[in-house]
Amino acid sequence: MNETLRIQQAHRSIRSYKPDPISDAMLDQIIAAAHRAPTSMNAQDISLIVVRDAEKRARIAELAGGQAWIAQAPVFIMIAIDYHKTDLGVRKAGQTQVIHESMEGFGVAAVDAGIALGTLITAAESLGLGIVPIGSIRRNPQDMIALLGLPPLTFPLVGLCIGHIKDDVPLKPRMDIKTFRHDERYDASGYPAAIDAYDVEIMDYWKQIGNSDGVAWSANLGNFYRQVYFPQVKPVAAMQGLLNDK
Ligand SMILES: Cc1cc2nc3c(=O)[nH]c(=O)nc-3n(C[C@H](O)[C@H](O)[C@H](O)COP(=O)(O)O)c2cc1C
Repeated sequence: MNETLRIQQAHRSIRSYKPDPISDAMLDQIIAAAHRAPTSMNAQDISLIVVRDAEKRARIAELAGGQAWIAQAPVFIMIAIDYHKTDLGVRKAGQTQVIHESMEGFGVAAVDAGIALGTLITAAESLGLGIVPIGSIRRNPQDMIALLGLPPLTFPLVGLCIGHIKDDVPLKPRMDIKTFRHDERYDASGYPAAIDAYDVEIMDYWKQIGNSDGVAWSANLGNFYRQVYFPQVKPVAAMQGLLNDK
């Protein structure tokens, strides 16, 4: 296995960080990796907001529902959909941008954001740093927009904590790879048995790391997916001019 594959196979989210700062050189390399990532139509329709200021990180930790690791990790990178940037190009070409009012627009920017997130993760982990992605910033998107000065046609989609690992954790098990990889044709026949087995396995994992609040995979999803867990996303995205009615 080469070094890149070894790093990817060793991924685990870290929620305990040392206070040591991340050097400018390291951060520049991590961001340069994501800057080089592919982007649909070369639109470059996302922006990263790098937050190192401790007070701001503490506020983001609060907005995300009290996630202490955001305040603890020395760097937080916000990945935002940026149709403000593309609008300038479209206007320059004498056209009117409508893509930000469509499902296609939100989807394609979310894919680009995901690619950037994954690239930041591999880059940071390759430098021996720990990371944890943060979707919970979408709990209070309006406050995030104000805090980071995001203009209309932008939206804070997902964040990433980066820092030096304090307490490491064992790898979290995944469901059987047959529920992930389908060759030639989708086949869900093994799903129920795989879910049963995984529910047992994840409970063992919680025991192993001493997390007495841990619940089974299916119960966890039952808790979250029975509602739209971040209901502010749609109205705040609409206030930013990002619709999905086309
Ligand atoms: C888009 C995205 C959003 C996430 N949001 C959060 C979050 O808000 N808080 C958190 O502690 N972990 C968050 N995570 C981390 C997941 O919980 C974690 O990746 C998953 O449980 C698998 O664990 P592992 O990364 O250690 O393998 C997020 C992960 C992704 C990919």
